[in-house]
Amino acid sequence: MSRRDDPVWWKEAVVYQVYPKSFADSDGDGVGDLQGLIDRVDYLDDLGVDAVWLNPVYESPQADNGYDISDYRAIDDAYGDMDDWERLRDELHDRDIRLIMDLVVNHTSDEHEWFQRSRREEGEYADYYHWVEGSPDEPPNNWQSVFGGPAWSYDDEREAWYLHLFDERQPDLDWTNPAVREEVFDMMRWWLDRGIDGFRMDVINMISKTEGLPDGDPDAGLTGAEHFMNGPRVHEYVGEMVDEVLDDEEVLAVGETPGVSVEDAKQYVGPDGDGLSMVFQFEHVTFDHDEHKWDAGDPSLPEFKRILAKWQRGLADDGWNSLYLNNHDQPRMVSRFGSDGEYRRESAKLLGTLTHTLGGTPFVYQGEELGMTNAPFESREDLRDVEALNYVDAAIADPETDAEEYADVREAVEAMCRDNARTPMQWTDEEHAGFTDGDPWIGVNPNYAEVNVERARADPDSVFHYYRELVALRDRDLLVYGDFELLAPDHPSLFAYTRTLERDGTGREAGDSGVPTERALVVLNFDDEPATFDLPDDVAVDGLELALANDDVPEVPGRSFDLGPWEARVYLTPDDGAATDRHPDQH
Ligand code: GLC
Repeated sequence: MSRRDDPVWWKEAVVYQVYPKSFADSDGDGVGDLQGLIDRVDYLDDLGVDAVWLNPVYESPQADNGYDISDYRAIDDAYGDMDDWERLRDELHDRDIRLIMDLVVNHTSDEHEWFQRSRREEGEYADYYHWVEGSPDEPPNNWQSVFGGPAWSYDDEREAWYLHLFDERQPDLDWTNPAVREEVFDMMRWWLDRGIDGFRMDVINMISKTEGLPDGDPDAGLTGAEHFMNGPRVHEYVGEMVDEVLDDEEVLAVGETPGVSVEDAKQYVGPDGDGLSMVFQFEHVTFDHDEHKWDAGDPSLPEFKRILAKWQRGLADDGWNSLYLNNHDQPRMVSRFGSDGEYRRESAKLLGTLTHTLGGTPFVYQGEELGMTNAPFESREDLRDVEALNYVDAAIADPETDAEEYADVREAVEAMCRDNARTPMQWTDEEHAGFTDGDPWIGVNPNYAEVNVERARADPDSVFHYYRELVALRDRDLLVYGDFELLAPDHPSLFAYTRTLERDGTGREAGDSGVPTERALVVLNFDDEPATFDLPDDVAVDGLELALANDDVPEVPGRSFDLGPWEARVYLTPDDGAATDRHPDQH
């Protein structure tokens, strides 16, 4: 099945990701909730986004902020109830905003009824998870958990080991068991019947493990990954899921797939692949890691460009790209790839320009549209995320850790921890940034008086208003479907490219009926210093006009550009009416 050929809404959409725990709290308990989100649906409508991806709101003990689900068919009390969820769905749909739910089926919570029954070896549930008997002193193999430490815990009740690729409270389901697959597919149908528009599939490329669960190479990054990332039967399982549940092309199916190459991705999304709409690949957010994320160095721009260009080209004809620079698991993009001091505003706009002018579907993570930054975490007590806490605790538990290493741990946590993305959404300059009337579950970033929605909306030059223009730009087929070409690949601080649409396939032929080829030129200066850029001879500037920039710049491009710090410019051939404006009333 190919999802590439036909125009379909999710290719033309901008998706906004809501992390509900940190979005808006309506009842003063310090935790965001569905009513808080419902109260802000007009805000999303004003931004112009086409879909919301909601991080998990299912019943959960919250060991991993909802990625440990104890009931797939219930809403957690902290967020509200099913009536609230239905109201949210309707409020979104009334505004033509679709709703994408998170699907977490590599693992459940250890409090899920299936696991409780499995540990008691009740009937068919006995084989729902990966259980291995053996000495309580020695785990069945050397696999490591993504969150640190061994991927196995010993269960005293069943007197056996169970596998958990994440926290010990997140046991992995055994997908070799057809009953498990049927349970998952049933549950997916249940949500589709309730009118959702798609799924974001949590670590979907980790559901198949090598038979026999052999040891992994101890010298290769995360030990065991070669046996559980893109495992032997993963395409069989994902293909079955698509055939059984997702064979409607209108349903967005985006798979989270750490560690995939372009070739792997084609097997999920390509014309002969499993039938997913797109994947979240990780190469451009992990290329600067040494062994793991805590070793991240300074991302090099030429390498970053090479990776993104490779994905643009690699999936141009054989799939579809997702476009993101941050989410609830990544640090804030302005702090990581931009410059979060003097040039916070400019670099936030520049990074947004990148994700909205490449080919693929842009995902905006809450607060990105304000230019929200990483937050300072003064001590262990300020952290909430299980992954960061495990990392800090391992350093504390190791008697060899010296002062210098503690300083490195602190620096790594501040730069990379997931809590950076999870501080409350900044709505106003009132107490707790207007997120809650109570005590927020995680501290508010102290820059909220400067960076907040109220202020951004009142300021025509804000990141927020620039994002509204970016979202509106995606109405041009050129930016959705156009061919990509990277310019000046080795330039150390400039990211420049063209997009070209000859209207074959989606519209009239170039040249026929006088419809010209549409062209875009995007030039971005990723640096605190100014830069000069001379266009290569084969790039034509005739007909190009300024569509968007984060500074005062000429309306038509010359052949040489003088760019200020973090300056971003988008030039387009005019939308002469031949270019399809798909949603003329929307913006
Ligand atoms: C994914 C989620 C992350 C979660 C993990 C385990 O990577 O995005 O937040 O901790 O899977 O479910």
